[in-house]
Amino acid sequence: MKEQINNIKKNSIKEIEKAENLVELNNLKVKYLGKKGELTVVLRGMGSLAPEERPKIGELVNQVRDELNILFEQKEKELKKKELINRIENENIDVTEPSKKSTLGSLHPITQIIKEVEEIFLGMGYEIADGPEVEKAIYNFDKLNTPPDHPARDIQDTFYITDDILLRSQTSPVQARVMETQKPPIKIICPGAVYRSDSVDATHSPVFHQIEGLVVDKNISMADLKGTLEIFAKKCLGENTKIRFRPHHFPFTEPSAEADVSCFVCGGKGCRVCKGEGWIELLGCGMVHPNVLNFCGIDPEEYTGFAFGFGVERIAMAKFGIEDMRLLFENDVRFLKQF
Ligand code: DAH
Repeated sequence: MKEQINNIKKNSIKEIEKAENLVELNNLKVKYLGKKGELTVVLRGMGSLAPEERPKIGELVNQVRDELNILFEQKEKELKKKELINRIENENIDVTEPSKKSTLGSLHPITQIIKEVEEIFLGMGYEIADGPEVEKAIYNFDKLNTPPDHPARDIQDTFYITDDILLRSQTSPVQARVMETQKPPIKIICPGAVYRSDSVDATHSPVFHQIEGLVVDKNISMADLKGTLEIFAKKCLGENTKIRFRPHHFPFTEPSAEADVSCFVCGGKGCRVCKGEGWIELLGCGMVHPNVLNFCGIDPEEYTGFAFGFGVERIAMAKFGIEDMRLLFENDVRFLKQF
């Protein structure tokens, strides 16, 4: 039996040494020292020994068990340390590894133009005004001297929600809203989306953007309008830009004009962007019609004003060389990334 015990000891020592992790070690503990472990089984078999042998064998088993327990404890410490080191190594963060790129978006070309125009007019002392896109017909038309039989009010041209409520077809209603609530001097611009019942093609979209301008004060004249637009055109489109006025008609201005700018791509010689004309139509403008001032509670005998309005898409397309307006609304990142 002594030999059996010594064999158990030898084998167990070897196996403990070889154990590679805590699970293996624990299994060995069960195998040798557990309730049904090899050493325990030997103890149980002591009944068959001569009485004088029993204490000796008992002592030997106890001694071996104590030794093994110490070995198990040492090995456990060693393995725990090894596992900790492994974990630290595996979880090590390599700070030199390149990080995942987070892509930052950029402003839409339309937003870029709006911001640029805002900066120019803020620099000239203007304020930025805002108005609803779902607008009352009275602001979009009546107060702008556009009577019920005017063609712009046709069901073919404007999106109606009810007879009296519509999607604004221009930013001009903001003029009326501002004049009703603010006393002159008034100097505002109003950028925003407008809607018209147009079918989509390379130069038309049922939604597009305009920027409206309005100045009302004592002694405002057509000369102020021309000077203002000239400064604006030069700042926005380049110092060499020339501007010309053509007589036109708008219900809410009298006199009215359309303003063209010399082509800022070819400088006026004629190219694809200006379609060989040398000039690009830029905006509508004029002196605020006395009726409009009256409708909005401002005395036209005391005050005069000028107003203008232009499409943002047209400027963006000319400035960035975009040939198809649809690109501006498709929101394809491959397109938008270029600006
Ligand atoms: N609202 C006009 C349009 O949509 C543009 C315009 C023309 C605005 C003349 C004005 C203006 O303020 O004075 O075509």
